[in-house]
Amino acid sequence: MTRTDHDLPGPADLTIAEARKEIARLRPEIDRHNRLYHAESAPEISDSAYDALFQRLLALEAAHPSLVATDSPTQRVGADPLDSLPNIEHAVPMLSLDSAHDIDAVRRFDERLRKAIGDDGIRYVLEPKLDGASVELVYVDGVLERAVTRGNGRVGEGVTENVRTIATVPLRLDDSEVAVPRFLSVRGEALMYLADFESLNQRRIEAGEPPYQNPRNATSGALRQLDSRVTAQRPLTVLAFDVLAVDGVSFETDSEGLRALSAWGFRTPERVEVVDSLAEIAAYHGRFEADRDALEYEIDGVVVKLDSLAPRAALGSTAHHPRWAIAYKFEPRKEITRIDRIFVSVGRTGVLTPVALLRPVEVGGVTVSRASLHNREELERKDVREGDLVRIQRAGDVIPQVVERVHEEGRERGARFVMPDACPSCGIAPVEKGPFTVCPNHFACPAQLKGRIAHFAGRSALDIEGLGGETAALLVDQGLVRELADLFDVREDDLVPLEGFAELSARNLVRAIEARGRVELARFLVGLGIPEVGFAVAGDLAAHFHGIDAFREASPEELEEVHGVGPKMSLAIRGFLDDERVAAALDNLLARGFDFILPEEPEDSGARWAGQTFVLTGTLEMSSRGALKKLLQDSGARVTGSVSKRTDFLVAGANAGSKLAKAQALGVEVLDEARFRERFAAELGDFGAPPGASVDRSDLDMSNGDPGQ
Ligand code: IVH
Repeated sequence: MTRTDHDLPGPADLTIAEARKEIARLRPEIDRHNRLYHAESAPEISDSAYDALFQRLLALEAAHPSLVATDSPTQRVGADPLDSLPNIEHAVPMLSLDSAHDIDAVRRFDERLRKAIGDDGIRYVLEPKLDGASVELVYVDGVLERAVTRGNGRVGEGVTENVRTIATVPLRLDDSEVAVPRFLSVRGEALMYLADFESLNQRRIEAGEPPYQNPRNATSGALRQLDSRVTAQRPLTVLAFDVLAVDGVSFETDSEGLRALSAWGFRTPERVEVVDSLAEIAAYHGRFEADRDALEYEIDGVVVKLDSLAPRAALGSTAHHPRWAIAYKFEPRKEITRIDRIFVSVGRTGVLTPVALLRPVEVGGVTVSRASLHNREELERKDVREGDLVRIQRAGDVIPQVVERVHEEGRERGARFVMPDACPSCGIAPVEKGPFTVCPNHFACPAQLKGRIAHFAGRSALDIEGLGGETAALLVDQGLVRELADLFDVREDDLVPLEGFAELSARNLVRAIEARGRVELARFLVGLGIPEVGFAVAGDLAAHFHGIDAFREASPEELEEVHGVGPKMSLAIRGFLDDERVAAALDNLLARGFDFILPEEPEDSGARWAGQTFVLTGTLEMSSRGALKKLLQDSGARVTGSVSKRTDFLVAGANAGSKLAKAQALGVEVLDEARFRERFAAELGDFGAPPGASVDRSDLDMSNGDPGQ
């Protein structure tokens, strides 16, 4: 039964108790219609009847603002913009999937599983592999509490306000069929329907903005907006397919979990099937691939998952993917077109990339007009030339590639393409590095400088509004910026005469740049474009070194103490910092006097240890190293695995070895157990066993210590 506005007293005439009562009735009713419409595609009322309900709720909330709640269906319009997206750790790591490109690889997967758990346990859930952006949705007591992008799998970006605007995401779970757990973490895929994507791009082109490459990029752009009111205007959908963690409810199978997700009000993937043979997997894959072009959204394969949850735990995961699931990918989409011209582009890192300009062709719903030819060796191997007919492919988010030349009987071909012997941007002779041709001129090469400026000002770096690729190019071409540091000297008067600038935009840009004199250290590190360092690692580096100087001086070993930094990455970072031109550019940049915002220290308990770095070594009598480490960390100290210049104290028990020697060499204060107890008696209280108590042998390894925090 739906009543219309005019039967009702005006919202302002209601007492707060009356308003509360009506709101309590309206919200679940609107939620239900939302769900019927968005998750089940089975609306029961007309759009205008829905609107009437919605307007009534809006009016009630406007008249009684104290009754507005974050889970109200009215709260999907977006909130005030944020300065940056916070990094948030996932409740459970979000792994990715291992891929199979042919049925043999799926057969091997099937055989491994059968061997491990027996034929009886084998039932597979089959789903489309959605080609969007993964998100974690966390509900506490049934209310959406946070939404986090996948990020590096361990930590992602908090996009809660943005996700609230997506109609298919329930703000409050429906408990009418399945009880709502106290805590629920759900994994889903945000995506854009192809038709929505096309119209979004159309609008962008009309507004003079660059169109998105593909629906996936458009999705992740929309998801990561700082202003959720922008996200609210983008046509996003979320399909939920996995219960990552749940309290109090237990499922035996994945398909039960999917049914619960659906009962709670999520939209789930279509055409899910449960099968028990390889032949059925092959058939499912074949059917989906055949229908691929008719689907309303992009998929790039099917996902095969073991249905029973108990054996999943036993099968476990590698560092990257679970052993109980696999993505059976589709062939990338291919089309044939002609190369009009080949040119060479110079990227931010100086790599010269040959690019084919193509006769525009549609590949799986996206128009492609250029494709990468990768590098000198690839180009030689494929021997494609201007005028050739080629097969191109587009695989998901990957830049379109030229796969091969299509032979044309009797056509006279053009000359072989050779890489230029001068950088097309700065004219310096390039050098060959393996298959790549690289301009060695770094910041002095305008193309590289342009790329570096745009990167420095980019969304996940300094986020300087109004300083994109085009403006960066303009600043360099006009000679206003010869190195990154010059950005901070650009004045309004320099900009006003430039094309595309007026007084206001010039002032805004100068102000936006100035404002970034104070910036999170992590963003600054991202902005430097250090090889291999993305936002997650930059965050960890900033948290670990707590300052730019300590980071610049860190040895490869010290870098490796940072979570997520391995030997290859530490060398890449060191190599970058050691490059003279980089060091000089960085010196000049830092001379502008940045005020770095550092990640928050662990809560300062007021103890003397807060912010101090400890290394523990040798056999400690008062407690195991593990327990002492925890005690120190709980009081705000950092405990790392190896001694460096930044170590404040080495606590050395009996038989201390190389770490003691290193601490002495570096002049780090060494405390034996007695001194340590003396210095920290107040904080230690009666912590630790009486002297002479036994020691946990596993903590005795002195050569490596433990791997850090
Ligand atoms: S299951 C631990 N099912 O594909 C694996 N993933 O690398 C749990 N994806 O970004 C993931 N559709 O988010 C699963 N039906 C589906 C999926 C799916 C898309 C995404 C996933 C991840 C990528 C796998």
